[in-house]
Amino acid sequence: MADIETLEKLLSELAKDVSEAYKTRGIDAFNAYYELIQNKASPYVQNGFLDKKKAPKRFISEIAMLHMATTLFEEWCLIHEIGEANGYFDVHNEGTYFSWYKISKTLKKRIVEWVIANPDIQDAPQIISLLAENTLAGLHRRSLGEFYTPTKISEHLYSLTNFEACNIVTQKAVDPACGSGNLLKILVSDVAKLVKEEQLNAKSALKVLNENLYCYDIQPVAILMTKLQLLLVSLPILEKLNNTSANLYELLPFDNIKLTDPLSNSQDYWDIFAKFDLVMGNPPFLKVVKENLPFHKDFQEIFSGQPNLYQMFLWWAVKSARADGTITFLIPQSIRSGQYFRKLRKEISRFCDIKAITCFTAQEGVFDSVKQQVMIISLVKQKKPQKPSVITVRKSYNGNGLANFKEVELPQNQVVFQNGGESIWCVSDSGIDYQILGKAYKETRLFKDLEQVEILNGGFVWNQNKSSLRSHNVGEANFVPLISAGSIGVHEFSFPPKDERLKNRIFVERTYGITQSGYSTRSILIKRTTPKKMQGRRIIACELPKRFLEDYPVYFCENHVNLVLRKNDSEGYLAGLTAWLNSRLANFLFGMMNGSSHLSKYELGLLPVSIELLQLLGGIKLADKNKLLLKSDEIIYSFYKLNVTQIKRINQLIPLPS
Ligand SMILES: C[S@@+](CC[C@H](N)C(=O)[O-])C[C@H]1O[C@@H](n2cnc3c(N)ncnc32)[C@H](O)[C@@H]1O
Repeated sequence: MADIETLEKLLSELAKDVSEAYKTRGIDAFNAYYELIQNKASPYVQNGFLDKKKAPKRFISEIAMLHMATTLFEEWCLIHEIGEANGYFDVHNEGTYFSWYKISKTLKKRIVEWVIANPDIQDAPQIISLLAENTLAGLHRRSLGEFYTPTKISEHLYSLTNFEACNIVTQKAVDPACGSGNLLKILVSDVAKLVKEEQLNAKSALKVLNENLYCYDIQPVAILMTKLQLLLVSLPILEKLNNTSANLYELLPFDNIKLTDPLSNSQDYWDIFAKFDLVMGNPPFLKVVKENLPFHKDFQEIFSGQPNLYQMFLWWAVKSARADGTITFLIPQSIRSGQYFRKLRKEISRFCDIKAITCFTAQEGVFDSVKQQVMIISLVKQKKPQKPSVITVRKSYNGNGLANFKEVELPQNQVVFQNGGESIWCVSDSGIDYQILGKAYKETRLFKDLEQVEILNGGFVWNQNKSSLRSHNVGEANFVPLISAGSIGVHEFSFPPKDERLKNRIFVERTYGITQSGYSTRSILIKRTTPKKMQGRRIIACELPKRFLEDYPVYFCENHVNLVLRKNDSEGYLAGLTAWLNSRLANFLFGMMNGSSHLSKYELGLLPVSIELLQLLGGIKLADKNKLLLKSDEIIYSFYKLNVTQIKRINQLIPLPS
């Protein structure tokens, strides 16, 4: 393997050199670069994309990385007699921001020496992506969802498209938010393999790659990196040309890889203009404010609450794909049951057949530093509504060993679960889980439709009311307890909470300015986020004790808490519902519909509820928590007539809380 350590040292020397040159020659280019990105990002990132003080550091690193990568490329091509490559930054428009810098003769000489000592061209693509990832990883780059897809995930994503590399001769492929081009890189290297194996002629390959490969991004560095990465994996094609006299950069300029925001002019790509046979993407995951998007009306049909960029990109992909075209995306699992994505889920069911889903169960470590549970979904756009086919489902922890993962084929109507006008995606790699789901939802209503109770979010945002928070109750009517998630355990309520960090926000002094009136009836309290150590468990619920209301007739609840308030004199339901929510079956069902550790009131409302069962559960009189949990599970399993295998499966997935 090549000597990366020396190369990285050279890169930091190069960055120092850029930094020096920047002071005298780079300011104008930086200002133009900054203005461009700021403009492109302004609909999405309200506080500005980059802090102007930190942005030069990033600009300098990008320049160093791009100049290092192009110099390496040029030298590899020379020593392998593939041909000459000149003036990368002049061939491509996006180069204007980076071309003011010229690499010094001494540094260039040392890079050339490095290439001579490390001539293996097979390693070239890997070396360049490593350099790019290491450079970008150290920079502030969360704001536009700039996380790059690791090769193993890109390869799996590409395999789910079922796209044959030879199809690129007649078909068009796009990545609408390409980053450094890690997804299309897999496709291009497959095209290069075809050329190597003489199944495709090198000249035709260059022509189709130039014509049929599309990528978009709003950052110039992304466009230049994508072009260079794709060029690197195309080296076997260039080699076949036998030392052409043309400038290699001009031979394969990738004219359809463009600095543009495809969301802002979606009408140019959609419906009658839909031309893509393959849309692949790992779009940014970023909440945006609808009113800030000048083009928000174009996405009206899939908005339902606060939009997220990933949701817009997925819809963009569906609308830009041709009939029979494939759409394969890496997205957060919030799409499975999140309220804000309910319209998108419906539209996807209307227009597409879901072909494959791969869910990653780890909350982090799947790619980059992203802390979200993610999944890959592959869809085929239908010409006209057809009978849905089967979905290939896989579950992986973090993507390691993906190629050998167990896969199951499931009917579409099991995975896309419809009930009470709602549609959620229930994902599991075991057929038993769907049998359990079927039994639990058979002839029962949804929690949200239960007349006796109301599901709410606590709503009190403590850090917006800091001046009213108190650590002690001074006994006046104006002092109201504030219930936080720290008070809630499985069937356990503790006030004040044991967690020392909460000690300064136990009471609220109701001063002028606090508009909430508080709650004054008994309720069930539910944590909104589950700690990681509660393996398999999502719902942590307890009843608010009667005694508490006697002491404090009014209470506030933080927004990290969901509440179930009784609407009338239905006292019995509270105990029954708490037992149901804490049960293994309810947690199992919730895990199937929701991949994240968050628990919204909308998703809670989608759980099945049976009045008859609640009455049975409400009748349990056991003070010991573990006995209560075991008894509730026993009653629930027998109520739903679950068999031994089904019970074993639930118990294995959802351990009892410690
Ligand atoms: C998660 S990264 C893409 C990762 C890419 N698949 C890869 O593996 O290299 C998301 C990219 O979307 C880009 N982006 C953000 N908003 C965009 C927009 N409105 N239009 C196009 N690209 C956008 C960001 O600049 C970033 O490069």
